[in-house]
Amino acid sequence: MRLSLAGQRRVIWSGTIAAVAVLAYWRFFSDGLPIIWGPSARASEIAEGRELFEHEWTPNDARAGGDGLGPVFNAKSCSACHFQGGLGGGGNVEHNATSFEVFPRPDDPRFLTGTVHNFSTNPAHKETARKLRQMYPTVPAREVRTGDPRCPTTRTAPEYDPVHTQSVQTTALFGAGWVDLISDRAILKNARNRGVRTAFKEMSVEFDSIPVGRVRHVAGGVGKFGWKAQFATLEEFVAAACANELGLGTPTVEQARPHAAPHDDAAPDLTKQQFRALVAFVKTLPKPVEAGGVPEAARGKELFGTVGCAVCHVPDMGGVKRVYSDFLLYSLDDPQPGGGEYAVGPSPLFGLPARPDGDPKPNEWKTPALWGVADSAPYLHDGSAPTLHDAILRHGGDARSVRDKYNTLDPGDRAALLAFLGTLKAPPDAPPLSNPSVTTLGKK
Ligand code: HEC
Ligand code: HEC
Repeated sequence: MRLSLAGQRRVIWSGTIAAVAVLAYWRFFSDGLPIIWGPSARASEIAEGRELFEHEWTPNDARAGGDGLGPVFNAKSCSACHFQGGLGGGGNVEHNATSFEVFPRPDDPRFLTGTVHNFSTNPAHKETARKLRQMYPTVPAREVRTGDPRCPTTRTAPEYDPVHTQSVQTTALFGAGWVDLISDRAILKNARNRGVRTAFKEMSVEFDSIPVGRVRHVAGGVGKFGWKAQFATLEEFVAAACANELGLGTPTVEQARPHAAPHDDAAPDLTKQQFRALVAFVKTLPKPVEAGGVPEAARGKELFGTVGCAVCHVPDMGGVKRVYSDFLLYSLDDPQPGGGEYAVGPSPLFGLPARPDGDPKPNEWKTPALWGVADSAPYLHDGSAPTLHDAILRHGGDARSVRDKYNTLDPGDRAALLAFLGTLKAPPDAPPLSNPSVTTLGKK
């Protein structure tokens, strides 16, 4: 049978329209092609990296090109903190790290950030939050004139402590190499489509009470790593961990300098090859799994979607399946009793510069990936929620409507949702710890 000319045209037209529709759908709604080739590295490199991850560093270590461990550090090996559910896992609250911000002050308008280290090789360089506050003392209240200069009103800018510290918990590194492969485009697209869906209310009437989170742009692209999305790439985070947690300089990042001796220089501790091996080990850690055999888990997973958890904890992102994060920043704090914002730092009456544009506020956190969550208690950035149920109850602020829905679930449904989260396990093939006693930190 031969088609008439008009028939042929019709076939071509409908084919073209279908192709355009598929492309448009893919561009706007698909989260990208699945990533087929996961992270890989040479076995010998991974083995060397594993050895470095477990190595207990000492001052002037024979394996270091510089001064070895320190001058300031939080532990002696990566595995001292990253061990739950196998080598590379999360840690407990005893291994939390303390980060700090120093807000602008009238005599110094800089906004500073850093780490208060647990230990130092030289006792004179020991860091504490108290010493930090001695360096940056409370700014006294002052009278300021505001309003019309002809008829000024005097108001009091209240005193403030310019130092703000936060305790952050060790995150698990399983699957980190996969997160590294998620493109900026996928994250931006999801954030944009969330906005579109919110605008077309009929598409998701029940979720428009959840604001779209903020993308964090950092030097290397969209921030994906760390509780504050502070790094775009795994390699940068590993370099920062070497510098800050162990005091090891790498070819790209200097070791952390003590607050009391900020001008001491030292040669890099790790060679390029050692650093590359360490990155290779972290990058190829297996990804978490969804364990089977739990009857209510399937219903729980459905509820995870219908209640609205999946709006932020997006199951598949950028071709990586079952990671459960949108990598955006949210605030889960309920409004303060007085109706004001969560307040730290100088009152606007001081007229000081704000924090750099785009830097997260103290109460903004990145949606954490939930894969492996069953093996990483306690929960939230500071480990203050002992159970998954507690973690969910702490979802106020941007997630308040979802928490309220969780609270109205009947006990069976709630149990099913928790059972689903319970299936998100650390990888069974995670490398075991060679020396399990390293995790008892602090007995220096
Ligand atoms: C004192 C405990 C401690 C030690 C030692 C430590 N870490 Fe961490 N690690 C943490 C904490 C706490 C976080 C979360 C920090 C944050 O987000 O601000 C973290 C986060 C990370 C992340 C980011 C993971 C993600 O997905 O966001 C990487 C990568 C990492 N560590 C690698 C390492 C490596 C490599 C070493 C050894 C050089 C190391 N860590 C040593 C406590 C530690
Ligand atoms: C508005 C976005 C948003 C929604 C909706 C949301 N979450 Fe979260 N979730 C977050 C953020 C942000 C954090 C980190 C908060 C922190 O550390 O202080 C978090 C943390 C968690 C944690 C702790 C993870 C860890 O590693 O410590 C769990 C568990 C969790 N959410 C489960 C849920 C469940 C279940 C729901 C639905 C009932 C839900 N979330 C809804 C944004 C959201």
